[in-house]
Amino acid sequence: MKNIKLNDHVEIEIVGSGTNTYGKEGNEFKGALRGDTEEIDWAIDNGYRHFDSAQLYNNEEVVGDGLAKSSVPREEFFITTKLNTMEGYHGADWAHAEIEKSLEKLQTDYFDTFLIHFPWDDNDEIIEAWSILEDYYDRGVFKSIGVSNFEKEHLDLILEHGKVKPVVNQIKSNVGNWNDELIDYNKKNDIATIAWGPLGGLEGDAEKVLDEIGGKYGKTPAQVVLRYQIERDVIVIPKSHNKDRQAQSLDIFDFELTEEDRKRINAL
Ligand SMILES: NC(=O)c1ccc[n+]([C@@H]2O[C@H](COP(=O)([O-])OP(=O)(O)OC[C@H]3O[C@@H](n4cnc5c(N)ncnc54)[C@H](OP(=O)(O)O)[C@@H]3O)[C@@H](O)[C@H]2O)c1
Repeated sequence: MKNIKLNDHVEIEIVGSGTNTYGKEGNEFKGALRGDTEEIDWAIDNGYRHFDSAQLYNNEEVVGDGLAKSSVPREEFFITTKLNTMEGYHGADWAHAEIEKSLEKLQTDYFDTFLIHFPWDDNDEIIEAWSILEDYYDRGVFKSIGVSNFEKEHLDLILEHGKVKPVVNQIKSNVGNWNDELIDYNKKNDIATIAWGPLGGLEGDAEKVLDEIGGKYGKTPAQVVLRYQIERDVIVIPKSHNKDRQAQSLDIFDFELTEEDRKRINAL
């Protein structure tokens, strides 16, 4: 495993586990909770220690139960969750209450990173929300704070008005939508990028090219794409409802892409 050092010196494992459909009926985002923690149990068994959760996923308790009942101590896990701002911001009291609920559901007294999930169209409110995260950061409840789905202008807002710089910007980056410009902007500002949906777009011609590249190393298209991202220091958080595929997504540290491979992948 490789670690990335964030701008506040906290270290994060470069491959984490997505969780947005874990523990749900039919593996559906909107599915009801099944009442078990199977995918989290497999992930821990496979060696994942970094978990990406969010209030929006409505399954923080699945992640919390899985981690709590494992034999791995809390401090060996890296837990991220996110304030659900999909429908905007509903005031400081709301934010505090949601954060407290997350701590309870994830059965912890701190988060390794806590993110604002989406920007919305009220700059004063975004600055207020960020100052709430800063307060939890100052008190050590959040070891690091960051954002998700932020565009350049939203990052600029925080960089200009915040006291603490975001450590990460979690954004979509996958075949067909690498998002290179924003990744470069993150990097220029010493903000790490986490790629969500990292295995999207693995079909058709792209899959053929990746299969050809992977064939040289005995790796699958998914492993090639994840390797591509980590070679450029982009953190990935794949999820799978299959234990073997979860393991394959971690098995990407024993080969190296050539410059020619990287060019072909970037063109997909
Ligand atoms: N910040 C945001 O706004 C945001 C938005 C979306 C997602 N996320 C986060 O990002 C995480 C990952 O994104 P995602 O859930 O969209 O999906 P993803 O990780 O890109 O995976 C897509 C599909 O790829 C398959 N897969 C997984 N590992 C594989 C492997 N090694 N080989 C072949 N296929 C494989 C899985 O199907 P099988 O189950 O059949 O293996 C999965 O459904 C989420 O779980 C969530 O934590 C964040």
